[in-house]
Amino acid sequence: MSSYFDDEKNVRDYISMTKDDDWSELVELLARHVPDGSEVLELGMGPGADLDLLLARYRATGTDASQPFLDIYLDSHPQADVFRLDAVTMDTDRRFDAIYSNKVLHQLTPGGLSRSFEAQARVIRPGGIAFHSFWYGSGEKIHHGLRFTYHTKSTIQEAIGNQFVIAEMERYEESESGDSFYLVLKCS
Ligand SMILES: C[S@@+](CC[C@H](N)C(=O)[O-])C[C@H]1O[C@@H](n2cnc3c(N)ncnc32)[C@H](O)[C@@H]1O
Repeated sequence: MSSYFDDEKNVRDYISMTKDDDWSELVELLARHVPDGSEVLELGMGPGADLDLLLARYRATGTDASQPFLDIYLDSHPQADVFRLDAVTMDTDRRFDAIYSNKVLHQLTPGGLSRSFEAQARVIRPGGIAFHSFWYGSGEKIHHGLRFTYHTKSTIQEAIGNQFVIAEMERYEESESGDSFYLVLKCS
């Protein structure tokens, strides 16, 4: 099914709208749990701002469901280790020490999110970490055909099943106080 970010114009608009975003605080939080030099997979890399920060510490691999995001990043980083990957099915034989995403998994349906966590548990090496950021709250909105599902600890707990334990979950501000949270999960 075609989505908003399959259209190159929408992708270029998003890249220009977010060009000044700085995600270094999130990557610092990841670094409290994942040692430098580890192999880290990013889901939904979008423009690649997080990936550039991850690469400063890790052997990082970028992925996205949208080919235009990958193509545009590869134009300026031809040697980058990036490939197309759906966060729900995670159809890859590769394994990683950690998985990272920043405001990606809110786009999945509740069923899709549970499937994603099952798949992540397969792709992360034993003892590894998943780190994700979400919008905090309840309900969902559709904007430009994109789903925005809001989550709390209980909806996350339901989605992760018994494959992970929540090691950390803290709210932070992206646009307004407490509108977001990050989650550190350990493979159980
Ligand atoms: C809001 S953007 C965030 C991108 C980047 N992390 C950032 O903070 O700028 C969401 C990204 O998730 C990707 N995405 C959405 N659904 C996905 C899925 N099922 N699998 C992989 N990527 C997905 C989109 O293509 C888009 O690049």
